[in-house]
Amino acid sequence: MPVTVREMAVGELDLIIGYFHDSTPEHLEMLGVDPTRLPTPAAWRDRLEQQCRLPMDQRATLALIWLLDGRPCGFSTADKIVFGDRANMHLHVVDPELRRRGVGVDCVRQSAELYFELLRLRTLFCEPNAFNVAPNRTLQKAGFKYLKTHMTVPGALNYHQAVTRWAIER
Ligand SMILES: CC(C)(COP(=O)(O)OP(=O)(O)OC[C@H]1O[C@@H](n2cnc3c(N)ncnc32)[C@H](O)[C@@H]1OP(=O)(O)O)[C@@H](O)C(=O)NCCC(=O)NCCS
Repeated sequence: MPVTVREMAVGELDLIIGYFHDSTPEHLEMLGVDPTRLPTPAAWRDRLEQQCRLPMDQRATLALIWLLDGRPCGFSTADKIVFGDRANMHLHVVDPELRRRGVGVDCVRQSAELYFELLRLRTLFCEPNAFNVAPNRTLQKAGFKYLKTHMTVPGALNYHQAVTRWAIER
């Protein structure tokens, strides 16, 4: 797959916001996202824009855009960042038609490389919902190691759920 991954520009942040706000309740349920916890688009854009302007070692979140033949096809975000040590990543191919064609695994590999480089990481984690097969299969194929399955609230948008913890190290 001719995919490339790079840092998301401020003008591209609506890809993230639109993806979540336009998702069906069923899709959000599969992601483990509580729709009532989504920030308003304006507040979310402000927050993400502020993050884009910070130096790398002060970021709380970092967004990467995934391009297929030069066109946006998905994105990854990192949060729980401890610069020089660890972070958690998320993975999304936006158009359902483009899923299950190998885009995700290539973009996850490239995203992991970029996170390691930009955030000087030692360990990159990902904690998808345990019942969401696609990210679990994709992470394993991209070289992440399975650590455990546990109950938690994995992030600010999520409800309490079973998640699988995956990690890759440098
Ligand atoms: C998760 C996601 C990014 C993976 O990207 P993708 O392009 O669909 O994945 P790939 O085509 O690269 O597939 C990678 C592996 O996962 C498997 N896989 C992907 N989707 C699957 C599904 N729905 N069911 C079963 N296996 C699946 C593929 O078969 C492949 O494994 P294999 O080669 O051993 O058969 C994408 O499916 C997606 O955006 N899903 C919706 C959002 C989501 O669930 N994000 C996770 C939030 S943490």
